[in-house]
Amino acid sequence: MPLEPACLTHATDGTPVSEIYGDIYHSAAGGHAQARHVFLAGNGLPARWQGRERFVILETGFGLGLNFLATWLAWRDDPQRCQELHFISFEKHPFQATDLALAQAAWPEFALLAEQLRQHWPVLQPGVYRLEFDSARVVLTLVFGDAVDTLPRLATAVDAFYLDGFSPARNPELWSPALCRSLARVAVSGATLATWSVAASVRQSLAAAQFDVEKRPGFAGKRQMLVARYAQGDSG
Ligand SMILES: C[S@@+](CC[C@H](N)C(=O)[O-])C[C@H]1O[C@@H](n2cnc3c(N)ncnc32)[C@H](O)[C@@H]1O
Repeated sequence: MPLEPACLTHATDGTPVSEIYGDIYHSAAGGHAQARHVFLAGNGLPARWQGRERFVILETGFGLGLNFLATWLAWRDDPQRCQELHFISFEKHPFQATDLALAQAAWPEFALLAEQLRQHWPVLQPGVYRLEFDSARVVLTLVFGDAVDTLPRLATAVDAFYLDGFSPARNPELWSPALCRSLARVAVSGATLATWSVAASVRQSLAAAQFDVEKRPGFAGKRQMLVARYAQGDSG
């Protein structure tokens, strides 16, 4: 089935919004700060990748690439960074590179990295695309297609998860018990997970998939966010 690309539109406050899902791409209080607070700090990064040979992050929903760019920038800025950073992200409705350029202009701190990302941006066809940066020390694997279908077929070992697939109320398929089981299937023991959603259904699906969930203070106006640790395989 061909992909239906996303169409860049904005809410009245300028926040990018999806017409398909009726939801915003990132917090109106700041996309980069949200990425750092929720996804990086929520997964104990950068500390957890320090000194490691290889560290693997999996994200549901690539969107504008903001979380990837924030992670890549944090990795570059960290003198103790892991040797190889692998970032795997799923996207059902990718943007055209021209729309990425318009949206990413909001973050001048990413300008050089975002330009490299767009230079490597694949054709919008379903499939798996491997993009290499910084002499292949940063590898972005983009899976264009529905994560519900593609995630169960993924073979990898993930250290940290970013769950960012629009709100569970508007996009329940990306937070379902089956999808959480697919996350657990590729998680290493002790893998961590972070998301801004604290919906009861999400907590239950993650707990049923053997993730120990915990609420933490959320970003900006949000009271809470969720972190979790994959407990299966722990010895004690
Ligand atoms: C909140 S946005 C992600 C923002 C992104 N993480 C960033 O840093 O810019 C959610 C994304 O999930 C994607 N998405 C929704 N359902 C999906 C599915 N079933 N499979 C793959 N991607 C999906 C949407 O198209 C959208 O781009």
